[in-house]
Amino acid sequence: VAFSTADRVAVRAMVDDLVASLRGHGASAGGGVTRLVYSQAWAAAMAEIEGWLGSAGLEVRVDAAGSRFGRLAGERPQVVMSGSHVDSVVGGGAYDGALGVAMAACAVRWLRETAGRPRLTLEVLANCEEESSRFACNFWGSRAMLGLIRPGECDLLRDADGVTIGEAMSALGLVPDRIAEARRDDVCAYVEPHIEQGPLLERLGLTIGVVDRVVGVRQLRFELRGEAGHAGTIPMAARRDALTGAAELVLAGEALARDLGQPAVATVGALRVEPGGANQVPGRVDLTVDFRHVDERVLAGMEEELRRRAAALAAARGLELSVEPRLGQRAVDLDGRLCALLEASCRRAGVRWQRMPSHAGHDAQLLATRWPSAMLFLPCAGGRSHRPDERADMDDVVRGVEVLALTLHELAYEA
Ligand code: GLV
Ligand code: MN
Ligand code: MN
Repeated sequence: VAFSTADRVAVRAMVDDLVASLRGHGASAGGGVTRLVYSQAWAAAMAEIEGWLGSAGLEVRVDAAGSRFGRLAGERPQVVMSGSHVDSVVGGGAYDGALGVAMAACAVRWLRETAGRPRLTLEVLANCEEESSRFACNFWGSRAMLGLIRPGECDLLRDADGVTIGEAMSALGLVPDRIAEARRDDVCAYVEPHIEQGPLLERLGLTIGVVDRVVGVRQLRFELRGEAGHAGTIPMAARRDALTGAAELVLAGEALARDLGQPAVATVGALRVEPGGANQVPGRVDLTVDFRHVDERVLAGMEEELRRRAAALAAARGLELSVEPRLGQRAVDLDGRLCALLEASCRRAGVRWQRMPSHAGHDAQLLATRWPSAMLFLPCAGGRSHRPDERADMDDVVRGVEVLALTLHELAYEA
């Protein structure tokens, strides 16, 4: 099988259209999207995806977590799955996640039309949650598929408004008590297409990144408690200001990652000050540190050091400190055979590629712990991601759909 010029034109129109229509659900300023899991925008995006999957001739199914699947039944029940997530960060881009869903839908549609019924079954995945931007989910849809959601979790995870994830599911007609039914034991391969979210492919003039390792990600939630009070009357020497302590912690995280050097990174992206008035000494600060490294031993060392520095600065300032993990996923090697298949497809499609690690977290890194998994990356304009002006070039994307389709063909038809 190979793409004709007409196929390229058709795929380009379709993938462009799918990404553009998803962008409309949760549209935010500057062309970006805010599409939090189980929100109205998310539900509308999922309804739209169901429509495309159906019109591509696929059997559509919703699992107990709310992920959508478009199935092309093969002679055998084992499933080759491809797709990505539909939720976004707050003020994120239109490509992170959505592009991968659109690419998988186009690739499987093309295979159905060109090659007919596969030996193994093909499924397009529109995964419900990856970003943990509303709840500290840690890959909700993927954990549901692996049967890793713990009893009671639906009542424990709360968003910033105090809504539990179970309540958010129920509001959309999902049944939290049935989440265990989302478990899958029939998947034999997972291939996730995704925008790179970094600058490497563009800088090197390459079309595809074959991802062979995904970075380890941890997030710790720190709470510093001092004493709130009047900004005018409390002398500096008598203060226990939670925010000045937090400021030291922010800088300690930055210094730790800088001193270790690339690829260590540490970010404080969320911080809340209470009571929060301009004339009040801050009594309490909540912040998260997100830190990453491809080497789990280094990552563990970073965590130990962050905890140590936080304890020391809190003690020196007379602040109370609590620390708890928000989420985390281990660094993982992706499947060698699938990476080699992706490379062979790149050669056949005549595109320039390189192997590379991912410095962003992805569902594939969790799914890879159970299923052979791989990822292909597409160039990202200026490396800009998790912001509204994220963009992928449609010529690259069409080549990416071709590489994906050739790979899925090898896996599902030649098996
Ligand atoms: C997800 O995009 C992450 O890397 O945090
Ligand atoms: Mn993301
Ligand atoms: Mn993503």
